[in-house]
Amino acid sequence: MAESFTISQSNSKTERYETLLPQIESLVMGEQDLIANLSNITAALKQTFGFFWIGFFLVKGNELVLGPFQGPIACTRIGFGKGVCGTSWKEKKIILVPNVDEFPGHIACSSESKSEIVLPGFKNEQVFLVLDVDSDQLNDFDETDSLYLGRLMKVIEKLLII
Ligand code: SME
Repeated sequence: MAESFTISQSNSKTERYETLLPQIESLVMGEQDLIANLSNITAALKQTFGFFWIGFFLVKGNELVLGPFQGPIACTRIGFGKGVCGTSWKEKKIILVPNVDEFPGHIACSSESKSEIVLPGFKNEQVFLVLDVDSDQLNDFDETDSLYLGRLMKVIEKLLII
């Protein structure tokens, strides 16, 4: 399966996501283990876009705990409502941060991270995990990322109800 993974060479973000998403869907639908699937999803995003840091934090009690990721080592626990990830969890919505220095309470796992997008994933209407994508460029995420990463979260949510 992994050998047949195709990365679009297009400069268009939309085309890259359009090539990526169906492949992720078929990759994860044949596997029931959540951690295995989240791991491959981070790798597929990293291979396609080369983002600085991509990873999941899973809700465990009143904290988010670091899950599968690609990139430099990161903080392992984030409280409810803390940082961009904890805020996405609390507010149950996608948070797009063009400049992390302008987000009050941003948690800097790396000083190289400049912009960020965080999306919540739901199980039984509760946030179960968040996807955090960081860039070392300012203003690197937009509505296209929200749209397609939002679709990716729907694929992940389908895994959670199996
Ligand atoms: N910046 C995030 C913390 C996670 S790391 O950047 C990987 C936040 O403010 O929640």
